[in-house]
Amino acid sequence: MNIEDDVERLDELNEDIIRNSLKTRIIGRDIYYFNSMDSTNDFAKKIAAEGCREGALVVADTQTSGRGRMGRSWSSAYKKGIYMSIVLKPLIEPADMQIITLGASVAVVEGIKRATGIRTGIKWPNDIILNDKKVCGILTEMSSQWKEDKYKINYVVIGIGINVNQDVEDFNEVSLDDAISLKLYGNLMRMHDIRLKRSNIIGNVLLELEKIYFAIINRETDDIINKWKEYSVILGKKIKVISESDEYTATAEDITWDGKLVIRCADGTTREIVSGEVSIRGLNGYMI
Ligand code: BTN
Repeated sequence: MNIEDDVERLDELNEDIIRNSLKTRIIGRDIYYFNSMDSTNDFAKKIAAEGCREGALVVADTQTSGRGRMGRSWSSAYKKGIYMSIVLKPLIEPADMQIITLGASVAVVEGIKRATGIRTGIKWPNDIILNDKKVCGILTEMSSQWKEDKYKINYVVIGIGINVNQDVEDFNEVSLDDAISLKLYGNLMRMHDIRLKRSNIIGNVLLELEKIYFAIINRETDDIINKWKEYSVILGKKIKVISESDEYTATAEDITWDGKLVIRCADGTTREIVSGEVSIRGLNGYMI
């Protein structure tokens, strides 16, 4: 067996391996593992609509139609990345959803740090950044309905894609300028003893996510916002704000308690922007 085979065997995923890596109480009590799947978010939404238990975890070794934010696709090289979705059913107002998105990005930063020692950062609202490139994307989707006198959340699906063992050729030309994997970063930094085991990263990210989720449902969100600010790579920096109809430069100043980005425009006015409306970029490329 050559080294590549050995690495692949050690990084195998299946239901038992995933279960053994988890230290959570509700996230992952039901695990749906697939060798290949269209999109783990789509499957999670389907089982959520059918009434699955909170915490259901969907993991695939590759996705044929992996989705990103704003209609983009998510490249899902076979067995090289983590493609997973979690179903949650928080008793919060749909308007407070943004804190879940921010919390998920804090969980990914802390989980990756714990599993690999690598420090990543956050680009609002929830791209995880390494060496000015994207190492992880998070797609949060929600279903809500009008019940009695207000909107209630039926379920939230948090979809997380982490680039772990991708090589340069696993990213297409468009994403190569913007994307990086933990392995490519490790090579760049000559981290010879780095251990990149997907199940270990999954276990650590989900443990952090569950802690943060419990804090959110207990309305203890200050710590999450503070950590988000600490890990942010954009606060205090000039950014390009891109919407469907407009593109302008501003300074990222702050984040509100409910996760809106406060920017200062060139004319000195401030504006609060909500994720989903716009994307942001550094002035000289993907980030900073
Ligand atoms: C983004 O940055 O645009 C979000 C990317 C989210 C990708 C993950 S991979 C697992 C889950 N299933 C999907 O189809 N998308 C998310």
